[in-house]
Parts: sequence; structure tokens; C-alpha cells
Amino acid sequence: MSAQIIDGKALAATVQSECATRAQTLRARGLTPSLAVVIVGEDPASQVYVRNKIRACEAAGIISTHHCLAADTSEGELLRVIEDLNRAAPVHGILVQLPLPKHINSHKVLEAIAPEKDVDGFHRENAGLLAQGNPRLVPCTPAGVMRMLASIGVSPWAQHAVIVGASNIVGKPMALLLLRAGATVTICNSKTRDLAHHTRQADILVAAVGKPKYLNGEMVKPGAVVIDVGINRGSDGKLVGDVDFESARTVAAHITPVPGGVGPMTIAMLLSNTLDAAAATLGDSSGAQRS
Ligand code: GUN
Repeated sequence: MSAQIIDGKALAATVQSECATRAQTLRARGLTPSLAVVIVGEDPASQVYVRNKIRACEAAGIISTHHCLAADTSEGELLRVIEDLNRAAPVHGILVQLPLPKHINSHKVLEAIAPEKDVDGFHRENAGLLAQGNPRLVPCTPAGVMRMLASIGVSPWAQHAVIVGASNIVGKPMALLLLRAGATVTICNSKTRDLAHHTRQADILVAAVGKPKYLNGEMVKPGAVVIDVGINRGSDGKLVGDVDFESARTVAAHITPVPGGVGPMTIAMLLSNTLDAAAATLGDSSGAQRS
């Protein structure tokens, strides 16, 4: 078998064009959607991610403001920037790019973002709403994965989903979204014994461990959907996922590539969340992401 490759780039382009239409509708109602992106320091990977996010906003007609702070910015100064953005009525979404420098408490910073502007969905209020099965703003990467599954006509209902990785950004919210969609969910982590035993049970296998080629074809159930969230830089400088694509593609029915899989969907869902946050200020949640 050779798996069907899920083209995240093409799907992200579709979502972004839907977002452009939604942004236009909001503008026609007198509301210009806007996202503030805050970055501290000069981590090269973060700079690339932020540039891509800003470009995507501009293409969709969402205003983006870029707040670039020096690496030695104090936690207090960063919190003051966030407070100002919280108060600024024309700003609908706030994103603080992670990782933050070590002297800053990321948890404290993420909790300082007004929950209704938390387009990353990392604030405990949004995490709690998702845990209760009543999501408002959902973390972008898992939201993008749900959209990818829908795009290939795969319903998680009564499927066994296995997630490798239990981060607050991907693994845990991914599990909650799949659970809400009717899947039986197993979450594995770096301590899981006999990982392959678990991964081989998966109808839907999500790899989000941040370790290059951590999973391979022998760990995949024939006919499974394999979603690779990992973005790692290999020794040759090329991007590789958490899954050994070449061996897994011979076993799976569907698989996401790296690059061009989940990555572009994360950005597309950020636009979607920003529009949801903007629409909510009009008392309009009709377009909100609820997958
Ligand atoms: N760094 C890596 N991924 C993310 C993300 O989804 N959001 C933010 N804010 N920072 C990140």
C-alpha cells in the first residue's frame, strides 16, 4: 500500500481563502480584524514562524501589528505590553510567540492575555472550556488536524486515536478534540512502555513528540491515518517530522508530509481564531470554530 498524502498546503490555502471572505464580511460590518504578534528575542525559527503568520494575515485582510522586543526584555515589561494590548479595543487577537527567553515565566505571560483575545487557546480559561467539551478558542495545531481529518472524510467517531506527546500546545488539546468527536483516545508520552504496542492499535495516529523519525512503519497499523505534527531539523539541515515518512507511507492509508502537512494548517487556523475573536466582539459566534 502507498498512503494517500494529505496536502496541508492546499487545504491551508482553502482555509485562508475562506478567512479572507470572512474578513471582508466583518470589514463590511465596520470591523477590521486585527492580530498583535509579540516576539521576544531573535530565535531564528521563531522569526520565520512570526513572519509567515504576519504574511498570512496580510493576505487574508487581517491587520497585524508586530511587537518585537529585545531578548533582555524583563517579564514586567512584557506583561505591560500585553496589558496595553488587552486594553486596545482595535486588537482582537494576541499571540506571544514561544519559546520565551528563560528569564521569563511563560505560564504567567500566557495567563496575562485576555482570554477572549487568546487566539492560541493556551489560557487556562480556554483550556478549561475545551476540557469541559465547550470549546471557544482552540489551539491552532490540533484545530488544524481536525480540519485535515474532515477534509479526507475521516470521522473520529468510534475510532481509536493514539497521540504520542502530551504537551499543552498539541497533545492534550488534540486528545480533547478527538474525544469530543467520539474517538477512544490513548495519550502516550516519553515514558510509555512498549510504545509500538499502543501505536499499532491506532486508527488515527498523531505524532507530536518533537523527536525526528521517532515512529516508523512497523509501529503503524495497516490502513491507519498518520498525522505528523513534528517539525525537526535533521543533521543535513532538512526538515523532518516525528514519523519516518518513507516506511510509514507503505503501511498507512493517509499520511501528512513534513514540510507541507500540519505546519501550514497551524497558520490557517490562527487566522480563523482571530476572525472568531473579532466576530465575538460583535456578539457573533456563528463562524466560530467548534470542531
Ligand atoms: N511556538 C511554536 N508553536 C507555537 C504556537 O502554536 N503558538 C505560539 N504562540 N508559539 C509557538
